[in-house]
Amino acid sequence: MKIAVIGADGQLGSDLMKILKDHELMPLYYPTFDVTKPGEAKKILSKLKPEIVINTAAYHRVDECEDNPQESFRVNSIAVRDLALICLELDVVLVHFSTDYVFDGKKKNPYTEEDVPNPLSVYATSKLAGEYFIRNILDRYFLIRTCGLYGEAGCWGKGTNFVDIMISLEKKGQSLKVVNDQWVTPTSTAELADRIEELIQTNHFGLYHLTNQGQCTWYEFAKEIFSLLGKKPDIVPVDTETYGAKALRPSYSVLENKKAKEIGLTDFSPWKEALKDYLIRKGYLK
Ligand SMILES: NC(=O)c1ccc[n+]([C@@H]2O[C@H](COP(=O)([O-])OP(=O)(O)OC[C@H]3O[C@@H](n4cnc5c(N)ncnc54)[C@H](OP(=O)(O)O)[C@@H]3O)[C@@H](O)[C@H]2O)c1
Repeated sequence: MKIAVIGADGQLGSDLMKILKDHELMPLYYPTFDVTKPGEAKKILSKLKPEIVINTAAYHRVDECEDNPQESFRVNSIAVRDLALICLELDVVLVHFSTDYVFDGKKKNPYTEEDVPNPLSVYATSKLAGEYFIRNILDRYFLIRTCGLYGEAGCWGKGTNFVDIMISLEKKGQSLKVVNDQWVTPTSTAELADRIEELIQTNHFGLYHLTNQGQCTWYEFAKEIFSLLGKKPDIVPVDTETYGAKALRPSYSVLENKKAKEIGLTDFSPWKEALKDYLIRKGYLK
């Protein structure tokens, strides 16, 4: 298949480039390809003629988005609408990524695709608006909500990812304060990319929750990283209020891969296994 990958050097984008290597790939890099410039984006995509466009671009510095709602909506909503319109016109399948943060966290058991979102932050609201544009404009789309991504390339939008930050802070001997009242599912971009490869071979279009299995708090995630590395740094569990981040986040945003199971997609591994695999691939662990 001819596949264009927007944000091909990002955390998820670079794993997609590896996993999809047997396809005819068209990597698109910012700022040469900018989703917020629909005229140019359309010209490039019209020339390339992909069958599938995968959009990993996002403005996802969650706290920064609170101060920059215009930019947040420009990248996460309006640009996504424009991209969906381009895909409609060019008859291209769109794969797009959204977030567990579209939920408010009040449910306390895993959210399925049927649960009603109620975003708490500018970032989450702008991502949800992007979702709605895709669902309104296109029939042939895969819209993937995922959670707590970490991958070998590190998250470009945030400069790094949670695992690498924890390891580097510990190396510098800095104190580690980690939130212990927000429940998530850490998810490996390598494994997510693998499932995307499987999903795009189907015509089961629609909204999907795709994460590794299980759940933990960010504090428990940090503890597991160091437990696997055989280290015992002093990690202080803190609550959300004490941590004092600007944007509100759901206290529980675990997603159930309900629809993926229904269509028979390969199960994700438990998050601890995926983490171990990441630490080995990244050379932290032999
Ligand atoms: N990270 C998480 O924990 C998480 C959780 C849930 C959902 N998600 C979603 O998953 C997706 C992928 O996240 P990620 O962690 O892989 O992000 P990432 O590493 O920041 O990758 C995003 C890529 O998009 C590019 N990009 C940024 N602005 C662009 C623009 N205007 N036009 C074209 N490309 C642009 C970036 O390029 P530059 O680096 O040059 O800016 C980067 O290559 C996003 O939609 C995000 O909202 C992420």
